[in-house]
Amino acid sequence: MSTLVSGFSKLSKAEKINWLIKNHLSAYKDAETILKQYWNSDQKLQQLHDEFIENTITNYFLPFGIAPNFVINDKIYTIPMTIEESSVVAAASKSAKFWQTRGGFKATVLSTTKIGQVHFTYSGSYSDLKNYFDIIKQQLITGTKSITENMEKRGGGILDVELRDKTSDLDNYYQLHATFETLDAMGANFINSCLEQFAKTFKTEAEHHLQLPINIVMSILSNYVPECVVRAEVSCKVEALAEKDIDPNTFAEKFVQAVNIAEIEPYRAVTHNKGIMNGIDAVVLATGNDFRAVEAGVHAYAAKDGKYSSLTHAKIEDGIFTFWMEIPLALGTVGGLTSLHPLVKLALQILDQPNAKQLMQIVAVAGLAQNFAALRSLTTTGIQEGHMKMHLMNILNQFEATPSEKEQIVNHFKTNVVTHSAVVKAIENLRQ
Ligand code: MEV
Repeated sequence: MSTLVSGFSKLSKAEKINWLIKNHLSAYKDAETILKQYWNSDQKLQQLHDEFIENTITNYFLPFGIAPNFVINDKIYTIPMTIEESSVVAAASKSAKFWQTRGGFKATVLSTTKIGQVHFTYSGSYSDLKNYFDIIKQQLITGTKSITENMEKRGGGILDVELRDKTSDLDNYYQLHATFETLDAMGANFINSCLEQFAKTFKTEAEHHLQLPINIVMSILSNYVPECVVRAEVSCKVEALAEKDIDPNTFAEKFVQAVNIAEIEPYRAVTHNKGIMNGIDAVVLATGNDFRAVEAGVHAYAAKDGKYSSLTHAKIEDGIFTFWMEIPLALGTVGGLTSLHPLVKLALQILDQPNAKQLMQIVAVAGLAQNFAALRSLTTTGIQEGHMKMHLMNILNQFEATPSEKEQIVNHFKTNVVTHSAVVKAIENLRQ
């Protein structure tokens, strides 16, 4: 039973841990040891992590892996991935290797515009509001000068501000719909600061121009970025898809069918896209970007035509197999965690310090590669073969297998099908 607590954030870290143990973990005898096991012995580094969020009590580790051999626009990349799911990095590496000898991945940034909105209500006439907006528009933009100065020097800034009438959807509801170019920054703080300044100017100046007041509801960027889109693609002759026991024509046709199914069937599309996000999130996380923003925006995009659908597409035309994806990605390579988290800095260095556009390309390729690997398994051997092989180590660790037990069991499963019960049986047999 939890108890309420006030002023918790003001307690010291030790006091927070004591409170937690007393109130939630008194029966968990190793709680304090476990929490402290994950502290970094380097005090400065630990303090950096402590200060990322409020009420930090320890660190939560995820594996940071690398997938080598990605050829993207004729340049070779090793892609850093942060993820807990056993088979994701292996699948990415497998796809990278497959396409490395078939022309590699091609990626192009199609657009980079980001969006933010001031949501407000006004109960007067639209024409009065529109007249006022036209008069004030330039002042809205000049009012943000101190915020936009640096961004403008680098070639970015506010692109436009529009007044949007949404009263047919919600009484008295209007928006200032603004577009931005934030260059190598994800731009959330920049956009939100601009929007809050627009709102201030718009409301204050209305007192001199309108009979009725403007009521600001909120000012916030949109994580839906359908004008910040990247395309990733692979393509080769169908016969080049041949592998030892895979007939290239059957494979290409089944692969395209699998994509077609995800295009028309939402139950499949969600899982299909989840597999794409395995690759995308892992790189987004490793490079210190906001994976929740990316997830929200990508899934909205998958439903942009009114029905949730596949993010990837595939075709066979004139003997050529082509597999591609266009997705919205708002990413940054400056600001946020990118200059703070030592592993994020390292990840960006592994990628040869990409700018935001290059990172969009790399992330999209990781997503496409992941989907290729998943569909290749699904339409040939089935997913469990590879999945369970990678999961084997997790099962062995659950049973606290010794290194020698691990070696014997891994050997055994080189020629046997891995299932949870088969692994348990193998451990039991070994231990008898
Ligand atoms: C598992 O994390 C992802 C897959 O289910 C994706 C898919 O079905 O395409 C294998």
